[in-house]
Amino acid sequence: MSFKAVVERIRKDVEAYQSETRSPIYLALNENPYPFPEELIRQCFESIDPSKVNLYVDSPSKEFLKELVDYLSTDSWRAREEQISVGNGADEIIYVLLLMFKDLSIYVFPPTYSCYEIFANALGVKVNKVPLRGERIDTKTLKGLLNEDCVVFLPNPNNPTGHLFEEEEIFWLLKTKALLILDEAYFEFSGKTFAPLIEQFQNLAILRTFSKAFSLASQRIGYIVANPSLIDAYNRVRLPYNVSYLGQTFATIALRNKRIFQERVRKIIEERERLKNALRSMGLKVNDSKANFVFVYLERERTERVYRALLKRGITVRKTEFGLRMAVGQPKQNDLLIETLEGSL
Ligand SMILES: Cc1ncc(COP(=O)(O)O)c(C=O)c1O
Repeated sequence: MSFKAVVERIRKDVEAYQSETRSPIYLALNENPYPFPEELIRQCFESIDPSKVNLYVDSPSKEFLKELVDYLSTDSWRAREEQISVGNGADEIIYVLLLMFKDLSIYVFPPTYSCYEIFANALGVKVNKVPLRGERIDTKTLKGLLNEDCVVFLPNPNNPTGHLFEEEEIFWLLKTKALLILDEAYFEFSGKTFAPLIEQFQNLAILRTFSKAFSLASQRIGYIVANPSLIDAYNRVRLPYNVSYLGQTFATIALRNKRIFQERVRKIIEERERLKNALRSMGLKVNDSKANFVFVYLERERTERVYRALLKRGITVRKTEFGLRMAVGQPKQNDLLIETLEGSL
């Protein structure tokens, strides 16, 4: 095959990245509505060592890794450095994992995080799709299909619906022996993690990000937690220095000040519950999201109509095949969202 044919295949088959046009109230990317605290930005810049800026800086750096170990550890489990690595956002980790496991059978359960399929498509990797049944994993269809030649990508809480899968569903997947990439991008909003189970299950990897709870989407910092051999293999495939010195400094300082972010997470959760109740009282079918967004099930025609009404008021949300996903904003933004929704139904 010629290089021209490759270029043409990519231009024909791979979705182009569309940069986001920001409306005044932009709730389409599940970002944190609160800016990174100015006082911490000052601390970051003060702690930058000029003699390091011209050098390649390890990722993760020793300081960052130490903070991650402390952050992950619980009363009954102490994480170890060799169980952790980092990526330029959780997205880069997903990309690298797809590269590592491109010859295995990759599974996703739609509706799910769209990037799994988008990245696989870019890499020419085939993805098997087994839609959820309602909000549950279709274990009937999957029975006999999954084994150690398979890799499953599953967000928990799920994106776009925001619901948490039941523990028994996660254990069912782990027992198939397939590698389970459990994407806990929204962990801080759900409070539910399976990270300590990496001690017991060699086929479990956890993904996390600083883009959501820590208000650091611009800095591109994600991490992976799994057994040391998987981490070692990941480190051999990913690019060295993949997370910048500045990005790591931001993340390290965020972890050292985690209470500030925990307090904001609490506020976002409160607003999430207020939004859910308001939407339910309009008669909408709202699921029990445990993330920093809410999801409303709507038929296609209504999805389009409501989406346009919101846009007219300068509010952008995410349109999906099954309804609308809306990030929780600041209280005043949520007030306007509720008011506009009321008027558009
Ligand atoms: C489930 C899930 N995983 C990963 C990501 C990407 O995270 P990052 O910004 O760290 O690349 C997102 C972002 O929306 C997400 O929803």
